[in-house]
Amino acid sequence: MSRFYLTTAIDYVNSRPHLGTAYEKIAADVVARYQRLCGAETHFVMGNDEHSQNVFRKARENGEDPLAYCDRMAQEFLDVWKRLDISFDDFIRTTEPRHKTGVQELVRRMTSAGDIYEGFYEGWYCVSCEAFKQEKDLIEGLCPVHRTQPDWIREKNYFFRLSKYTQPLLEHFNRQPGFTIPDVRRNEILRLLEGGLDDISVSRAGQAWGIPMPDDPSSVIYVWVDALINYATAVGFGTDAQLFEKWWPADLHIIGKDITRFHCVIWPAMLMSAGLPVPRCVFGHGWVNFKGEKMSKSLGTVIEPLEAAQKFGPDPLRLYLVKEISFGSDGDFTWERFEDRYNVDLANNLGNLVSRIATMTEKYREGRLSPAGVPGRLKDVAAAAVDDYRGAMDSFALEQGAAAAFRIVDASNEYIAETEPWAIARDPARRDELSQVLFDVAEAVRIAAVLLLPVMPGSAAEILRRMGASTPASKMTLDAAGWSESERIIAKGTAMWPRVDTSQKSRSTSVDENAPVAPTAPHAPIAPVAPSAPSAEKITIDDFMKVELRTAKVLAAEKVPNSRKLIKLSVDVGSEQRTLVAGIAEAYEPEQLVGRTVVIVFNLKPAKLMGIESNGMVLAASPEGGKATLVSFDADVPPGTRVR
Ligand code: MSP
Repeated sequence: MSRFYLTTAIDYVNSRPHLGTAYEKIAADVVARYQRLCGAETHFVMGNDEHSQNVFRKARENGEDPLAYCDRMAQEFLDVWKRLDISFDDFIRTTEPRHKTGVQELVRRMTSAGDIYEGFYEGWYCVSCEAFKQEKDLIEGLCPVHRTQPDWIREKNYFFRLSKYTQPLLEHFNRQPGFTIPDVRRNEILRLLEGGLDDISVSRAGQAWGIPMPDDPSSVIYVWVDALINYATAVGFGTDAQLFEKWWPADLHIIGKDITRFHCVIWPAMLMSAGLPVPRCVFGHGWVNFKGEKMSKSLGTVIEPLEAAQKFGPDPLRLYLVKEISFGSDGDFTWERFEDRYNVDLANNLGNLVSRIATMTEKYREGRLSPAGVPGRLKDVAAAAVDDYRGAMDSFALEQGAAAAFRIVDASNEYIAETEPWAIARDPARRDELSQVLFDVAEAVRIAAVLLLPVMPGSAAEILRRMGASTPASKMTLDAAGWSESERIIAKGTAMWPRVDTSQKSRSTSVDENAPVAPTAPHAPIAPVAPSAPSAEKITIDDFMKVELRTAKVLAAEKVPNSRKLIKLSVDVGSEQRTLVAGIAEAYEPEQLVGRTVVIVFNLKPAKLMGIESNGMVLAASPEGGKATLVSFDADVPPGTRVR
């Protein structure tokens, strides 16, 4: 049996989890559950980072003992993770004895390797980042992340010879190109390494809150060094050699894009120094923003994950975060968009489908289904979706995995509309045909539910039960996503996701409606439309049909470097993924585009813009002198749909 050890970043506990920190845990949980579904023995570790000065200060502010404060916060975090259905196998806290022992052992090994030396640090330190900052890192004297003035510190520190590992790290990056993903993060780190590394401080003087340096209790180990080692101590480093042997090196660290330098430079260098293997992969995910603003405790722009989960249970939130945000890129959360997606994907689409199958099966077949002929096209649709799903999930394209499952759901709804089971039911001679149609849709939905188990564990298990799956969700494997011909009993139930009425609400914060759009860039592939002077020359319908307009879903978006106007888009056009360049950077922030469905000229010859090959052109209305706006839809349309 293969093994998979994955971790998330461990959270600072100076405030409660927010939707941004929860996003990471949900994404990691999806990966862990997928690995289990594939049959891998999986070890999924999360935890809390407790030795930060902010935590210490917060406890003191509250008049609490720091450890008692951390105990209380640990309960709050665990409660949130439980209510979001996060299936971690272990939860490590950096104040635990097993962690302290392992941290001191690792630092001792680094010292024995001759990589720790005593020195003196004078410079900036941002307590919110818990990071030493160079003058050049600051913007107008402030920490660029927290927009606060860092402290100036002068103290005796122990230093780590990080500079010694510049070359070994570069070699490692070349040998193991998948060590840091996605590529955008790898490239950032490579640039950093190519510039050469400086030695770093690994201790703080004059503090009591932390793990003492092994041979100098007057200094504590720098909180980041302490925290990074959790990945090893959680699997027994320094305390349980057998356990460590079993799980190390980690297969995957999932972390945010702000802390890749710690994980992709400092952490592997520490491990190299200590003579330990480095992890196989570090995935740096993007931000969940709230209305385009970074969600952060210190900036006060936070969403309570439980508030979102309380509305409809954890699964709609999990689905939103996984399906609407391309894993690795930034994404946006607004209540309006969340509720819209809930209505479209769950109430109208999947939930409605599950109810219709149960109602029709009861009405026409007394709740029992078995095949009565040859399966229709849903069998092939499901097989193709399962293949796409595997490919996507294996490469951590979680949004594409979820989209593949929903392709089966969409196709099943279309199939019902096309075959009209209620019409077939009127003709007794077509009895077998009706049985087969109902069986096909129930089987397709069962397969979709298997694929959705990692994303929506509770709801997918319920769908499996209603669709009469013979294996319970807890024992399900991905092999069960093959087409089965077994007879089944379909269970009825209440509506899984009742539609939420959004009509009364002010939609003023909706990204779609308020997106500011500037006039079209002259050379960019966004359709320049001149509304006031329609051409006198008429074209035939045949001329028009030569232009293949199709919908495309934006998976990722980033500004083209050195261009004011251009945005590079990665889009799903149903049959494939494509890159397009659109001249909308002055109008839209890249994050506003991710998850949107746009219309593109699908059969346009490729053109190069700023060295990037653009495969298609995005359509927008550009009223003269007014704001241009992307063509959009008022209902959900799958990517690749022809627009006429
Ligand atoms: N304690 C450190 C990590 C140490 S790991 C050895 C830390 N803690 S944190 O609480 O600030 O952040 C925890 C994780 O949440 C990090 O991976 C961070 O990037 C991520 N996120 C924090 N805000 C986020 C968003 N708004 N969106 C997505 N992820 C976010 O950093």
